[in-house]
Amino acid sequence: MTRCRICSGPVREFLDLGRQPRSDAFLPPGELDGEFFFRLAVGVCGDCAMVQLTEPVPAEAMFHREYPYRTSQSARMTEHFARTAHRLVDGVRDRPGAFVVEVGCNDGGILPALVRAGVRHLGVDPSGRAAEEAAGRGARVMTAFFDKASAAEIRSAEGPADLIFSANTVSHVPDLASVFAGADHLLTTGGRLVFEDPYLGDVLARTAFDQVIDEHVYFFTATSVREAARRFGFELVDVEPLDVHGGQLRFTVGRPGRHPVSGAVAGALRREERDVPELDAFAARVGRVRDELTALLRALRDDGRSVVGYGATAKSATVTNYCGIGPELLPFVCDSTPAKQGLVTPGTHIPVRPPDAFADPYPDFALLFAWNHAEEIMAKEHAFGAAGGRWIRYVPDVRVV
Ligand code: TMP
Ligand code: ZN
Repeated sequence: MTRCRICSGPVREFLDLGRQPRSDAFLPPGELDGEFFFRLAVGVCGDCAMVQLTEPVPAEAMFHREYPYRTSQSARMTEHFARTAHRLVDGVRDRPGAFVVEVGCNDGGILPALVRAGVRHLGVDPSGRAAEEAAGRGARVMTAFFDKASAAEIRSAEGPADLIFSANTVSHVPDLASVFAGADHLLTTGGRLVFEDPYLGDVLARTAFDQVIDEHVYFFTATSVREAARRFGFELVDVEPLDVHGGQLRFTVGRPGRHPVSGAVAGALRREERDVPELDAFAARVGRVRDELTALLRALRDDGRSVVGYGATAKSATVTNYCGIGPELLPFVCDSTPAKQGLVTPGTHIPVRPPDAFADPYPDFALLFAWNHAEEIMAKEHAFGAAGGRWIRYVPDVRVV
């Protein structure tokens, strides 16, 4: 029996995605030996309701200098973060010298917008190269994991923070308590921690099983975050659904009793009581998606049709490894991230090529791994559809569009 990483309660496993590599560990084609694998499985705590990986990979193995993901690769996400920055700044503007910290800023996040708005800020990210790119965009950054020690360092150098923002990072940290301890150390008494991460409700509603990757240690709900925040000395005061990255929730926490609790929290708690218990039905649907997707790819191959992957996402590691999709079914995946190009995908060793390779010549079908960027990608690649190409989707179910 696994114990909960938040409350030590009993964790019941409900989905096993088998032997998986590190989802962002792209490899040089000549260096495939000694790849690291672990068992990717998800469970739910019977006491605090936190949904979590049962065998998480240490954070240091995931988030290091060469972490290849770059937030700025999506124009829509860049826009989302600029909008977010403006709203957050409106909330702290009344305090002269207000100080905003972004945890997991990657190559920019909200920081470029803070730079433009002249807001005192600091980005914190353990991925040195990404952080250097954020600095190249004019931001002040520090290469570190955010925890009590780095928070103390920031506080003594800069003073307390009015706001800590974090996107797609808090759910990535196995030691969740360390994030709250850092926030407790760094925030002013009335300060807030705002974080946005994949929402379990959306994962279930869309059968988005590829959201399960090594880096997504927790799948948050209002219910589980309220309880975790309470244990770690904070109060959940607001939630806001976001239509990015396949469905997220933005959580706002503050010190207990310091902020009014918005009605959205009670609304989310009520909905979750109704929707979230269907974890086993979700697991059954995941198996069906795998069977249908592999059957479709095999049928297309046997028919002599060409298929390539679009977007060498971290999520695609889960899909290709769980479904057994390798270069014999998918000769390459194209991706706009320079740090991924020329390498092969983790575990399944499918070559990653630049987006130009997609049109050279267009394949008959493209398997859309970056489905959370579907609108942006389909608009960019409209000539593919015009040339008769078809997209294969597998979220929320397998279909050709
Ligand atoms: P994500 O789903 O984790 O954000 O990863 C998206 C991946 O897809 C990332 O490697 C960048 C890539 N990508 C493209 O290749 N072309 C695009 O137009 C977009 C938006 C992303
Ligand atoms: Zn628990």
